[in-house]
Amino acid sequence: MKTRTPISIRIAAIIIINILIFEVSDTPDYFRSPLFWGMLIIFILLVLIADSIMDLVESTNFKMLSEEEKKQYLEDKAITYFRKLWNAAFKKQTDKEEKSLLIDHGFDGITELDNALPKWWLGLFYFTITYCLVYLVAFAFTDYAHPDAEYKNEAKAQLASISEYEKTAPAIDIDNAVYSSDNIAEGEHIFKTNCVSCHSAGGKGGIGPNLTDKYWINIKQKSLFKNVFWMLQNGSPNNPTMKAFIKEGIITSRDAEKVAAYIYHINQEQTPITESQGGAAPQGQEATWENNK
Ligand code: HEC
Repeated sequence: MKTRTPISIRIAAIIIINILIFEVSDTPDYFRSPLFWGMLIIFILLVLIADSIMDLVESTNFKMLSEEEKKQYLEDKAITYFRKLWNAAFKKQTDKEEKSLLIDHGFDGITELDNALPKWWLGLFYFTITYCLVYLVAFAFTDYAHPDAEYKNEAKAQLASISEYEKTAPAIDIDNAVYSSDNIAEGEHIFKTNCVSCHSAGGKGGIGPNLTDKYWINIKQKSLFKNVFWMLQNGSPNNPTMKAFIKEGIITSRDAEKVAAYIYHINQEQTPITESQGGAAPQGQEATWENNK
């Protein structure tokens, strides 16, 4: 009679498989789900039932054995499963067994043995095949550990947290908008996305005026920073090409605060891009800003 895998190993396997099923199906917090425990209990019960059926079969078969076979069976049973595994893994064949394994060819006196593959090696081999199948199925049909799905979920969560933040954060308007040098880098990014088509790289001017020089068409505020914010809020009163970016919902007032910091930076903290350097010719009148920020 063959040695049966101990019940403890089968139950451990069932637990692992059950966890895998819930992991792969991306069920959140499944340790608390009644389904998880329900399935586990049913699986374990099934294993126990199967085990007791096999016990029955074994004892019926035992009765039919001869005395000699019974003795051998009991001796065999006394060796633990793990010891048997160990023995099988490191089994050395006798000379006689070796002869029977000899393959019927040779060269220069070299002969070849047709040994069975070691159990641990076969075990690993089957494990990798199973792993590969599970992975393929999970990759093709589920979102489990899938880079695309993870990216989508994270992007979704991020957007949700941004809109949550927008809801609770105090709204920015022209009165409480403040210049911060921390906003310059992000402001530059916003400028490149929304403004560069008209004001050109670095704000040197094109369709829209040069934003790096001292000359301004629209002087609506006392400070340069607030003046830019005002332009973004209201657009140009004399030229609709410069839209009211905030009012039209093209950028948020939070982004306007950042891009205004960038314009302040290129206008006040960097040398102007003059006509000889490819900048647009000055337009409007020379501005003297009171409180720059
Ligand atoms: C479709 C073209 C266009 C885009 C895009 C554009 N602008 Fe303008 N902008 C203009 C024009 C044209 C003017 C001049 C308006 C006028 O004559 O009053 C202007 C004027 C301005 C002024 C006032 C300059 C002055 O001399 O009065 C500022 C500041 C400004 N834009 C900032 C921005 C920022 C920041 C963005 C991006 C969020 C932006 N603009 C996007 C076309 C544009």
